[in-house]
Amino acid sequence: MNTFIFKNPEIVSNKIADKIIKIVNDKPNAVICIAGGDTPLPVMKELVKRAKRKEVDFTKAYFVGLDEWIGLDKNTRGSCIQTLEDNLYAPLELKENQIIFFNGKANNLKKELDRINKFIQQCGLDFILLGIGMNGHIGFNEPGVNFSSDAQVVPLDNVTTTVMNKYFDEKLPLTEGITLGFKQILNAKELVLMATGLKKADIVKKTIDTPPTNELPATAIKLSKNKTSFFLDEDAANLL
Ligand code: PGA
Repeated sequence: MNTFIFKNPEIVSNKIADKIIKIVNDKPNAVICIAGGDTPLPVMKELVKRAKRKEVDFTKAYFVGLDEWIGLDKNTRGSCIQTLEDNLYAPLELKENQIIFFNGKANNLKKELDRINKFIQQCGLDFILLGIGMNGHIGFNEPGVNFSSDAQVVPLDNVTTTVMNKYFDEKLPLTEGITLGFKQILNAKELVLMATGLKKADIVKKTIDTPPTNELPATAIKLSKNKTSFFLDEDAANLL
Protein backbone atom coordinates (compact mmCIF):
# COMPACT_ATOMS: atom_id res chain seq x y z
CA MET A 1 0.00 0.00 0.00
CA ASN A 2 1.44 3.35 -1.01
CA THR A 3 0.90 6.42 1.16
CA PHE A 4 0.66 9.86 -0.39
CA ILE A 5 0.63 12.99 1.73
CA PHE A 6 -0.48 16.39 0.42
CA LYS A 7 -0.67 19.77 2.05
CA ASN A 8 -4.44 20.09 2.47
CA PRO A 9 -7.75 18.35 1.72
CA GLU A 10 -8.20 20.35 -1.48
CA ILE A 11 -4.99 19.01 -3.03
CA VAL A 12 -5.76 15.47 -1.81
CA SER A 13 -9.17 15.74 -3.47
CA ASN A 14 -7.78 17.07 -6.74
CA LYS A 15 -5.35 14.13 -6.95
CA ILE A 16 -8.10 11.61 -6.28
CA ALA A 17 -10.38 13.32 -8.82
CA ASP A 18 -7.54 13.06 -11.38
CA LYS A 19 -7.47 9.30 -10.83
CA ILE A 20 -11.22 8.85 -11.18
CA ILE A 21 -11.32 11.00 -14.29
CA LYS A 22 -8.50 9.00 -15.90
CA ILE A 23 -10.27 5.73 -15.10
CA VAL A 24 -13.54 6.94 -16.65
CA ASN A 25 -11.81 8.47 -19.67
CA ASP A 26 -10.06 5.12 -20.30
CA LYS A 27 -13.21 3.09 -19.59
CA PRO A 28 -16.41 5.13 -19.98
CA ASN A 29 -18.59 2.39 -18.42
CA ALA A 30 -16.37 2.04 -15.36
CA VAL A 31 -17.99 1.07 -12.05
CA ILE A 32 -17.08 3.58 -9.37
CA CYS A 33 -17.85 3.51 -5.66
CA ILE A 34 -17.48 6.68 -3.60
CA ALA A 35 -18.11 6.53 0.13
CA GLY A 36 -20.64 8.84 1.75
CA GLY A 37 -19.47 10.78 4.79
CA ASP A 38 -17.73 14.11 5.05
CA THR A 39 -14.26 13.19 3.84
CA PRO A 40 -15.04 12.59 0.13
CA LEU A 41 -17.21 15.71 -0.25
CA PRO A 42 -14.44 17.84 -1.83
CA VAL A 43 -13.70 15.00 -4.28
CA MET A 44 -17.35 15.05 -5.35
CA LYS A 45 -17.22 18.81 -5.78
CA GLU A 46 -14.12 18.54 -7.95
CA LEU A 47 -15.64 15.79 -10.12
CA VAL A 48 -18.75 17.89 -10.72
CA LYS A 49 -16.66 20.94 -11.58
CA ARG A 50 -14.55 19.02 -14.06
CA ALA A 51 -17.52 17.24 -15.64
CA LYS A 52 -19.09 20.68 -16.23
CA ARG A 53 -15.85 21.71 -17.95
CA LYS A 54 -16.20 18.58 -20.14
CA GLU A 55 -12.94 17.08 -18.92
CA VAL A 56 -14.82 13.84 -18.30
CA ASP A 57 -18.08 12.27 -19.39
CA PHE A 58 -19.89 10.22 -16.75
CA THR A 59 -22.92 9.37 -18.87
CA LYS A 60 -21.92 5.72 -19.29
CA ALA A 61 -20.35 5.16 -15.86
CA TYR A 62 -21.99 3.31 -12.96
CA PHE A 63 -21.95 4.50 -9.35
CA VAL A 64 -22.30 1.96 -6.56
CA GLY A 65 -23.09 2.95 -2.97
CA LEU A 66 -20.75 1.76 -0.24
CA ASP A 67 -23.24 1.70 2.62
CA GLU A 68 -26.42 3.05 4.16
CA TRP A 69 -28.02 3.40 7.57
CA ILE A 70 -30.82 0.88 8.09
CA GLY A 71 -34.08 2.84 8.32
CA LEU A 72 -32.98 5.75 6.11
CA ASP A 73 -33.37 6.67 2.49
CA LYS A 74 -32.84 9.85 0.49
CA ASN A 75 -35.59 11.67 2.41
CA THR A 76 -33.38 11.98 5.49
CA ARG A 77 -30.73 14.66 5.37
CA GLY A 78 -27.43 13.00 6.25
CA SER A 79 -28.26 9.56 4.83
CA CYS A 80 -25.55 8.20 2.56
CA ILE A 81 -27.76 8.31 -0.54
CA GLN A 82 -28.83 11.89 0.17
CA THR A 83 -25.19 12.96 0.51
CA LEU A 84 -24.20 11.30 -2.75
CA GLU A 85 -27.36 12.35 -4.56
CA ASP A 86 -27.08 16.04 -3.63
CA ASN A 87 -23.34 16.39 -4.03
CA LEU A 88 -22.61 14.11 -6.97
CA TYR A 89 -25.36 12.18 -8.71
CA ALA A 90 -27.83 15.03 -9.23
CA PRO A 91 -25.21 17.63 -10.25
CA LEU A 92 -23.80 15.08 -12.72
CA GLU A 93 -27.36 14.46 -13.98
CA LEU A 94 -26.92 10.69 -13.73
CA LYS A 95 -29.78 8.48 -14.92
CA GLU A 96 -31.44 6.12 -12.45
CA ASN A 97 -29.89 3.01 -14.01
CA GLN A 98 -26.41 4.42 -13.40
CA ILE A 99 -26.91 4.37 -9.62
CA ILE A 100 -26.76 1.12 -7.68
CA PHE A 101 -27.41 1.99 -4.06
CA PHE A 102 -28.68 0.20 -0.95
CA ASN A 103 -32.18 1.15 0.11
CA GLY A 104 -31.91 1.37 3.89
CA LYS A 105 -35.70 1.32 4.11
CA ALA A 106 -36.24 -1.86 2.10
CA ASN A 107 -38.74 -4.25 3.70
CA ASN A 108 -36.75 -7.23 2.53
CA LEU A 109 -33.09 -6.60 3.32
CA LYS A 110 -32.06 -10.04 2.12
CA LYS A 111 -33.37 -9.14 -1.34
CA GLU A 112 -31.53 -5.83 -1.13
CA LEU A 113 -28.26 -7.61 -0.35
CA ASP A 114 -28.86 -10.07 -3.21
CA ARG A 115 -29.50 -7.21 -5.65
CA ILE A 116 -26.25 -5.44 -4.83
CA ASN A 117 -24.21 -8.65 -4.58
CA LYS A 118 -25.46 -9.70 -8.00
CA PHE A 119 -24.46 -6.40 -9.58
CA ILE A 120 -20.96 -6.50 -8.08
CA GLN A 121 -20.54 -10.14 -9.04
CA GLN A 122 -21.42 -9.33 -12.65
CA CYS A 123 -19.65 -6.01 -13.08
CA GLY A 124 -17.01 -5.76 -10.32
CA LEU A 125 -15.68 -2.42 -9.09
CA ASP A 126 -13.11 -0.48 -11.10
CA PHE A 127 -12.42 2.02 -8.35
CA ILE A 128 -13.44 2.54 -4.76
CA LEU A 129 -12.89 5.63 -2.64
CA LEU A 130 -13.10 4.86 1.06
CA GLY A 131 -13.15 6.97 4.19
CA ILE A 132 -12.07 5.67 7.57
CA GLY A 133 -14.13 5.83 10.76
CA MET A 134 -12.76 6.89 14.13
CA ASN A 135 -12.81 3.20 15.10
CA GLY A 136 -11.14 2.16 11.83
CA HIS A 137 -14.37 1.01 10.20
CA ILE A 138 -14.70 0.97 6.43
CA GLY A 139 -18.26 1.46 5.24
CA PHE A 140 -20.13 -0.28 8.06
CA ASN A 141 -17.54 -2.99 8.38
CA GLU A 142 -17.13 -2.52 12.11
CA PRO A 143 -14.48 -4.03 14.42
CA GLY A 144 -14.83 -7.83 14.49
CA VAL A 145 -15.94 -7.98 10.82
CA ASN A 146 -15.33 -11.05 8.70
CA PHE A 147 -12.93 -10.04 5.91
CA SER A 148 -14.38 -12.54 3.45
CA SER A 149 -18.01 -11.43 3.39
CA ASP A 150 -20.13 -9.98 0.63
CA ALA A 151 -22.61 -7.21 1.38
CA GLN A 152 -24.17 -7.56 4.80
CA VAL A 153 -26.39 -5.97 7.44
CA VAL A 154 -24.45 -5.28 10.62
CA PRO A 155 -25.01 -3.85 14.09
CA LEU A 156 -23.35 -0.47 14.51
CA ASP A 157 -20.37 -0.16 16.82
CA ASN A 158 -20.64 2.21 19.82
CA VAL A 159 -18.12 4.60 18.28
CA THR A 160 -20.23 4.81 15.12
CA THR A 161 -23.47 5.52 17.01
CA THR A 162 -21.71 8.35 18.84
CA VAL A 163 -20.01 9.88 15.81
CA MET A 164 -23.13 9.56 13.58
CA ASN A 165 -24.87 12.50 15.26
CA LYS A 166 -22.71 14.86 13.22
CA TYR A 167 -24.55 13.85 10.02
CA PHE A 168 -28.13 14.44 11.13
CA ASP A 169 -30.30 17.39 12.10
CA GLU A 170 -31.69 15.44 15.07
CA LYS A 171 -30.71 12.40 17.15
CA LEU A 172 -31.83 9.25 15.32
CA PRO A 173 -32.28 5.81 16.89
CA LEU A 174 -30.10 3.98 14.34
CA THR A 175 -28.64 0.60 15.28
CA GLU A 176 -27.71 -1.15 12.03
CA GLY A 177 -26.06 -0.48 8.72
CA ILE A 178 -26.00 -2.20 5.32
CA THR A 179 -22.63 -2.26 3.64
CA LEU A 180 -20.50 -3.73 0.91
CA GLY A 181 -18.30 -6.44 2.41
CA PHE A 182 -14.55 -6.68 2.36
CA LYS A 183 -14.63 -9.48 -0.20
CA GLN A 184 -16.06 -6.97 -2.67
CA ILE A 185 -14.02 -4.00 -1.49
CA LEU A 186 -10.70 -5.83 -1.68
CA ASN A 187 -11.50 -7.04 -5.19
CA ALA A 188 -11.91 -3.50 -6.54
CA LYS A 189 -9.30 -2.92 -9.26
CA GLU A 190 -8.09 0.15 -7.42
CA LEU A 191 -8.70 1.26 -3.82
CA VAL A 192 -8.02 4.64 -2.32
CA LEU A 193 -8.40 5.24 1.38
CA MET A 194 -8.76 8.96 2.06
CA ALA A 195 -8.30 10.67 5.42
CA THR A 196 -8.03 14.35 6.23
CA GLY A 197 -7.90 16.41 9.40
CA LEU A 198 -6.13 16.08 12.74
CA LYS A 199 -8.89 13.99 14.29
CA LYS A 200 -8.02 11.13 11.94
CA ALA A 201 -4.27 11.21 12.74
CA ASP A 202 -4.45 8.59 15.47
CA ILE A 203 -6.50 6.01 13.56
CA VAL A 204 -4.38 6.60 10.43
CA LYS A 205 -1.19 5.86 12.35
CA LYS A 206 -2.73 2.74 13.95
CA THR A 207 -3.91 1.49 10.56
CA ILE A 208 -0.48 1.94 9.02
CA ASP A 209 1.36 0.36 11.99
CA THR A 210 -0.95 -2.64 12.53
CA PRO A 211 -0.88 -5.86 10.50
CA PRO A 212 -4.27 -6.96 9.12
CA THR A 213 -6.68 -7.70 11.96
CA ASN A 214 -10.46 -7.58 12.05
CA GLU A 215 -10.24 -5.59 15.29
CA LEU A 216 -9.13 -2.67 13.10
CA PRO A 217 -11.10 -3.14 9.86
CA ALA A 218 -9.14 -0.61 7.76
CA THR A 219 -6.07 -2.86 8.04
CA ALA A 220 -7.89 -5.28 5.69
CA ILE A 221 -6.93 -2.96 2.84
CA LYS A 222 -3.41 -4.38 3.08
CA LEU A 223 -4.76 -7.75 2.00
CA SER A 224 -5.90 -6.50 -1.41
CA LYS A 225 -3.85 -7.80 -4.32
CA ASN A 226 -4.86 -4.78 -6.38
CA LYS A 227 -3.62 -1.20 -6.48
CA THR A 228 -4.14 0.32 -3.05
CA SER A 229 -3.19 3.69 -1.64
CA PHE A 230 -3.68 5.93 1.32
CA PHE A 231 -4.25 9.60 0.43
CA LEU A 232 -3.72 11.89 3.40
CA ASP A 233 -3.42 15.55 4.13
CA GLU A 234 -0.65 16.77 6.42
CA ASP A 235 -2.99 16.87 9.42
CA ALA A 236 -4.12 13.25 9.07
CA ALA A 237 -0.47 12.26 8.56
CA ASN A 238 0.61 14.24 11.60
CA LEU A 239 1.65 11.22 13.70
CA LEU A 240 3.42 9.27 10.97
P1 PGA B 1 -16.26 10.84 7.66
O1 PGA B 1 -16.68 9.32 7.92
O2 PGA B 1 -15.71 10.89 6.28
O3 PGA B 1 -17.52 11.60 7.82
O4 PGA B 1 -15.21 11.15 8.68
C1 PGA B 1 -15.80 8.29 7.66
C2 PGA B 1 -16.40 6.97 8.07
O5 PGA B 1 -17.00 6.90 9.16
O6 PGA B 1 -16.25 6.00 7.34
